[in-house]
Amino acid sequence: MQITEFHNQGQLNRYAASLVAEQIRSKPDCVLGLATGSSPLGTYKELVSLYQHGNLDFSHVITFNLDEYCGINYDNEQSYHFYMKQNLFAKINISSENTHIPDASAPNLDAECLRYEQSIHNAGGIDFQLLGIGHDGHIGFNEPCDHFPIKTHCVDLAASTIHANARFFPSIDQVPTKALTMGIGTIMKARKILLIAFGIDKQEILQQALNGKVTPLVPTSVLQLHSNVTVLYGK
Ligand code: F6R
Repeated sequence: MQITEFHNQGQLNRYAASLVAEQIRSKPDCVLGLATGSSPLGTYKELVSLYQHGNLDFSHVITFNLDEYCGINYDNEQSYHFYMKQNLFAKINISSENTHIPDASAPNLDAECLRYEQSIHNAGGIDFQLLGIGHDGHIGFNEPCDHFPIKTHCVDLAASTIHANARFFPSIDQVPTKALTMGIGTIMKARKILLIAFGIDKQEILQQALNGKVTPLVPTSVLQLHSNVTVLYGK
């Protein structure tokens, strides 16, 4: 693993964006795996700025998001469909048919998970996966459990995740309790992985994930078994 500490979040964001930009320049039709949440926001801002200054072209890029909540509409500001449109897709020259997010409103969620996994496969697999880490060590919404889920699946969110997400909703009762997420196997098949973790609150779980035992109780620890992972972190 290539692990770099940053003392400034702006520098971390610029460096993360430069790695994504390098991937796009070296393979303009690359497949990016994208995350939501607070961790990648600064990276998306930098990518938008590169595009606006004429330094990056997304016209052939294909994206697959990690996850989406069940039970909220996509015009709800907290849905990941809304987040991606607002923070990235509407601000760059990506074509909407090249962007993919699990459809958690599908009538048959198991069929949707299979369809999503197959679309990633049909696109040639993920070249570059961007990740954040949850306070409980989750990646995507793969919560701590007794095994590493392999494929895209429907998950019950952990109480700590529901609690952490409550800051974005009017009340904790409105926080979704289920989501569709790529599996650990889906993520591990990505050819390159970039994990971003900024903030004092993330440091303990990050250290466990990077230096502790590989265990599904700390899902991010599985990245120790991947051959091309970059971690950018800071307090
Ligand atoms: C979001 C996702 C999650 C977040 C994680 C960290 O698509 O898959 O794993 O990356 O919950 O969230 P933040 O960055 O908000 O601390």
